[in-house]
Amino acid sequence: MLGFTYYTPTKVVFGPYAELKTGELVAEQGAKKVLIHYGSERVKRTGLIAQIEKSLDELGIGYVELGGVVPNPRLSKVYEGIELCRKEGVDFLLAVGGGSVADSAKAIGYGLANEGDVWDFFDLKRKPAGAYPVGVVLTISATGSEMSNSTVITNEDGWLKRSCNTDYIRPRFAVLNPTLTMTLPEYQTMSGCTDIMMHTLERYLNNGGAMDLTDEIAEGLLRTVMRNALILLDEPENYDARAEIMWAGSLSHNGLTGCGTDGGDWACHRLEHEVGGMFDVAHGAGLAAIWGTWARYVYKNNPARFAKLAVNVLGVTPCDDDEATALAGIGAMEEFFRSIHMPVSLTELGVHPTDEEYKELAHKAAVASPTGTLGSVMKLQEADMEAIFRAAQ
Ligand code: NZQ
Ligand code: ZN
Repeated sequence: MLGFTYYTPTKVVFGPYAELKTGELVAEQGAKKVLIHYGSERVKRTGLIAQIEKSLDELGIGYVELGGVVPNPRLSKVYEGIELCRKEGVDFLLAVGGGSVADSAKAIGYGLANEGDVWDFFDLKRKPAGAYPVGVVLTISATGSEMSNSTVITNEDGWLKRSCNTDYIRPRFAVLNPTLTMTLPEYQTMSGCTDIMMHTLERYLNNGGAMDLTDEIAEGLLRTVMRNALILLDEPENYDARAEIMWAGSLSHNGLTGCGTDGGDWACHRLEHEVGGMFDVAHGAGLAAIWGTWARYVYKNNPARFAKLAVNVLGVTPCDDDEATALAGIGAMEEFFRSIHMPVSLTELGVHPTDEEYKELAHKAAVASPTGTLGSVMKLQEADMEAIFRAAQ
């Protein structure tokens, strides 16, 4: 087991009506004026914003609203948020929605605490020295942004989708009421389930040493998400299934399933971010479209790891050698994605890059990495990235 730092400062309030505690949670942070940040008017129509505002009113906490965050959240909205918060004297950022809203709030948090252009932190030009505090009321289980150290923003100038990861931005609290996720369309639910699985798979499939406990946690999390995703196909309002997936979503990306590993691979995520930036697809669906191709490209570098996944998570009967078991496992994972109506190729995702766009996708992914390479199972060069994009068609 490799050494690690595990830091999860987020207070989690989980269960029915958890959102009614929002005011209390904000007050605990000593906040005086809150930015209520959200996406579409959906959260107003459902009455969620009104409930949250009531809980703030009761404690005399002021607030200002900013909606309009879109999936693959944009830098222009972040700038708008920074300006509004400075004008209004906001000292706490409350995201109400999914990963996109949480990430937009986090980026505003960086912008408020640091001078200069916030994009510098995503463009690897500078490192932030702090961030304003963020809290999340989650309405979709997917990214784990509600506990993660990450924010992912798309710059419309060049359609660059980039992340900035520091512990400053781990949310102070996460309000998790599984009932709030029941209104999700099936595609978003399943895209979220895929993303949750991928956050653990990215950590599990690596080149590190032995880590039994982490592996058992990871395998249990993967099996739990798969089992409950299938339940939600038929019963989208099944509370227990929603709850299992919601908790898995937070644990999958707060670091738990990576303790003792080499940090994980993350090539699929980095490749998908380029697809999301250029073609505006749902993140989890984009991951499903790439994963199988990536796995077949790299598995020979660590067949034992892929074979372990195949047997312990996907129920594959071990074959004569690890390579054959690994390949059977990759096929079984793609079958699972198909069964929850996720795409397993770029074509199925609805993305048809031109010859030039394949090159652009790979180039953008390579330059976004400080080393120019991606991955742990196999160090991918730009040419490998392009080959994977092309093979994923
Ligand atoms: O605008 P609203 O109404 O909120 O609509 C959203 C959006 O259209 C909708 N939705 C959310 N909750 C709903 C709902 N519709 C009906 N009922 C509900 N209860 O779902 C759509 C997708 O929302 P979004 O927030 O974009 O989804 P998700 O949570 O999957 O976030 C994706 C973004 O997060 C990034 C992704 O790259 C992508 O930009 N990620 C962030 C990470 C992090 N910060 O740690 C890690 C991830 O790997 C990921 O990269
Ligand atoms: Zn993800």
